[in-house]
Amino acid sequence: MFLQGRLRVEPNPAAVAAVVAEHLLSALARKEVLGLATGRTMEPVYAALRERLQRLTSAQRLSLLEGWRSFNLDEYVGLGPADSRSFAAFMQQQLGDPLALAPALLQLPDGRAADPELEAHRYAAALAAAGGIDLQLLGLGANGHVGFNEPPCPADAPCRCLTLSRATRDQNAAAFGGDPAAVPQRAITLGTAEILAARRVLLVVTGAAKAQILRRTLQEPPCPEVPASWLQRHPQLEVVVDQAAAAALALR
Ligand code: GLP
Repeated sequence: MFLQGRLRVEPNPAAVAAVVAEHLLSALARKEVLGLATGRTMEPVYAALRERLQRLTSAQRLSLLEGWRSFNLDEYVGLGPADSRSFAAFMQQQLGDPLALAPALLQLPDGRAADPELEAHRYAAALAAAGGIDLQLLGLGANGHVGFNEPPCPADAPCRCLTLSRATRDQNAAAFGGDPAAVPQRAITLGTAEILAARRVLLVVTGAAKAQILRRTLQEPPCPEVPASWLQRHPQLEVVVDQAAAAALALR
């Protein structure tokens, strides 16, 4: 059962973003390997991080950003950084360009690789060579996925190429002109294995639409049908949510 001491409920998404941005700044100060996520939940988080960095002197900012190492969770098969709908483009727009990070520092699976399975192996090996992830940032899919680990998913699934569910393609259709059929069929994602191997995990969830899946994630026994529920087993999990997302949790 998930320990309540590891749950932080904030009034709104802006307050959630402020908490998460502080975690990211501390991790940068410690020169940790960051595991980064995409999705709408992360937009205010990255905005809060940018704001805090911009308030520093340029010497302070450069010293924090020096040695940046990050690995994103996932990428659509077929989309490269030049495609504005790719996660590579999202990261470049959210952090790469504003923070003047060289594109190679923001690592993601290469969606344009000729052999996506081979690319998943290469990406997992690059992450292992960097020593794994110190702080893994995670959003929560409406169907309980983390990264693109679609249900059903065991706790030890490796980095791989997989077929996206209809639910996920519906959820992400907005970025593809509202047409689920335009969302790529496949993606490369870090597995639950790499995610659970991170030293610390920060699950970030906002909005009333996620209230029921957050309850199943944290307060029902872990199961393959809710891949995020395996996070309950992580010894260093912290969950930061807003009041709307926390609405269905049994809190004492
Ligand atoms: C996407 C991503 C996940 C993300 C989740 C939630 O499909 N693959 O990494 O956390 O779904 O997205 P959002 O924050 O837009 O609700």
